[in-house]
Amino acid sequence: MRYHSLVAALSLGSTALALHDQQFPVSTTGEACVRPLNIANLNNDGSHSFILGLKSEQWRLEEGPIENTTGNLIFDTVHSLLQRWPNTRYRNGHNIVPGVIPTGTLLYHGTVSHTIPSGPFWAATDPEHSLVFALGYGSGWQLTLAAMRPLKVLYFDGNSAAKVSEGTMDTQDIIAWGEVQPERYRDDQSRIKDLCRWGQEFGIDGFVRMEMDFEVMLCDVTAGVEVVSFLHVRVSWKDRIPYPGVPSTPSNPALDSDIWNRTFESMHSGSWHNRYPGDSRIVLDLAGLVSLYDIALAPSLVPVRAGLERWDHRVLGISSEDISQVKRKLAEVISRPDPSSGIDWKTLTHVIVDRYADRLEFMQHLLNFTSSDSQELLQRAMLMQNQLRVVFAPYILNATVVPSADTPGLPPLQWASPMFRLCATTHTTAMINHVPLMTPSERLLLKAIEDTTREICRVTTKMWAVGVMSGLDVLFPLELNEEELDVAQIMNDWRQDTQKLMSWLDWSIWIKCRPACGPEEMCYIPTWPIDGPEPWPPHQSPRDPAEVKNLADLVEHPPEGSASADGFFFIRIPTEEWRKPQPKCIRRLLPYES
Ligand SMILES: *[C@@H]1O[C@H](CO)[C@@H](O)[C@H](O)[C@H]1NC(C)=O
Ligand SMILES: *[C@@H]1O[C@H](CO)[C@@H](O)[C@H](O)[C@H]1NC(C)=O
Ligand SMILES: *[C@@H]1O[C@H](CO)[C@@H](O)[C@H](O)[C@H]1NC(C)=O
Ligand SMILES: *[C@@H]1O[C@H](CO)[C@@H](O)[C@H](O)[C@H]1NC(C)=O
Repeated sequence: MRYHSLVAALSLGSTALALHDQQFPVSTTGEACVRPLNIANLNNDGSHSFILGLKSEQWRLEEGPIENTTGNLIFDTVHSLLQRWPNTRYRNGHNIVPGVIPTGTLLYHGTVSHTIPSGPFWAATDPEHSLVFALGYGSGWQLTLAAMRPLKVLYFDGNSAAKVSEGTMDTQDIIAWGEVQPERYRDDQSRIKDLCRWGQEFGIDGFVRMEMDFEVMLCDVTAGVEVVSFLHVRVSWKDRIPYPGVPSTPSNPALDSDIWNRTFESMHSGSWHNRYPGDSRIVLDLAGLVSLYDIALAPSLVPVRAGLERWDHRVLGISSEDISQVKRKLAEVISRPDPSSGIDWKTLTHVIVDRYADRLEFMQHLLNFTSSDSQELLQRAMLMQNQLRVVFAPYILNATVVPSADTPGLPPLQWASPMFRLCATTHTTAMINHVPLMTPSERLLLKAIEDTTREICRVTTKMWAVGVMSGLDVLFPLELNEEELDVAQIMNDWRQDTQKLMSWLDWSIWIKCRPACGPEEMCYIPTWPIDGPEPWPPHQSPRDPAEVKNLADLVEHPPEGSASADGFFFIRIPTEEWRKPQPKCIRRLLPYES
């Protein structure tokens, strides 16, 4: 097998290999302390000795992830790409990923007039979303387009179409303008024009972002799409709402009375893409991933993030050298001719999340237990040990020897290192053969997966081994002095370990409405524009409605004191709830409130 992939690597030509060799350090420098798999060793030893020949100092159960490591964040943001839920929770995107929108995909554009837009314009992936902008005052226009060929797009993750100054636009700004310009957060027309101008050289058709739902900023309506229909649709029929404090004039008309109803429905269609696989109409090329969490690519962000909670991570503060490096890298990934290794990274991250998310959550539940009855507590601890053993079953070797607790000279849990190692490397060992074929982005992904599985396996191996040493495991019966067994202490340590691991992983799959919402409700995370720092619906600026091409055109400064006006639906949630949005059930039917 190794011979095979080596031949494959060579057949790519020496230039490809040289390129990879040269680029290899890009994704790994700066993180030297978290060891990637030792490739040189593998080539000499053969894979069996690689797995079983223990370099035990590398597999200490006591050593957690180093400070500033971002493998967990790269893993989680990559697993979350194109999913609404995690990207609503953490609004500030850190990834830029090339992709395509396949031939035949429909896109929708809601507008006030029967005019095909010229120049860059906004299109939604779901019609409910575009209808919010069919602001024809009673009736509006809905343009449906179809991709005639695969559209080449670039995706900005996070809540990247939310017009707020707090970091959602940062990654777009550095590409469009070469720097973050927070004060221009509403200047979407210029942003998209400049993005399209930048992308022209690379044949980029548009940019994928997310607000209430996913959207594509298409650069040119004449390129790659055809009109399916352009319909005059009835959206509301009476009672327009004048914006408080602003007289309605023909150029500054009142708002449709059901603007909020439509906004809610766009949230609802967005919720179809809440979880994996997200909005699959955009097909990403993860081998071209550019991550601002890549410490080697954007080292200047490491001190910027120091001490901040994840909510507050953003790209503002990045150095101009790093911006140049990001733009160079992006140009390289979009125009790279070489294929990738063929590894399905999206599925791989999901396999890992699938396997551990539910188990860890269940353990958290089992550990959420106290009892003054020692037998009850012991029973619970044994149930927990059973769960741990289920996780480990694929790695528990028959040859495992559990030493008696007081073996001198070795850390007490060192005997479990082979299991730790097997668990930690199981998903990536075979990939080592493909490293020469990997793009630098793929190596970054490999590293993120290694870091993440390593920590999951380190913590769970340790928990399992403690249980074995305490005689709780039926597969390894030990003679124990029951008086010395402090079950409550073991449960406490397990609880802390689980908690710490889960917050390090920080997977959004664990963020849900508890109890689950009823059939007339939807689980919702506060988001722009409804809960944003500014009122919604927005005040319209005096202008020809025909010019309203996208949402940004509608968003202007609200009149003074309008925030509390009746008849306008925006939930003034406390700042802290906006900063750290938590899920809640809201009604899917009128009135929509929670
Ligand atoms: C929109 O919602 C309002 C209540 O907020 C309701 O009175 C009205 O009938 C709804 N309009 C439509 C078209 O459903
Ligand atoms: C983490 O980053 C901070 C800020 O740059 C730095 O002071 C600290 O030394 C870093 N820690 C490690 C282990 O590199
Ligand atoms: C632990 O159980 C209590 C009571 O059942 C519950 O309210 C709490 O949310 C649980 N905590 C976790 C972390 O599951
Ligand atoms: C499996 O382990 C047990 C316990 O150490 C041992 O008795 C048995 O011989 C082992 N089986 C094999 C096939 O090595």
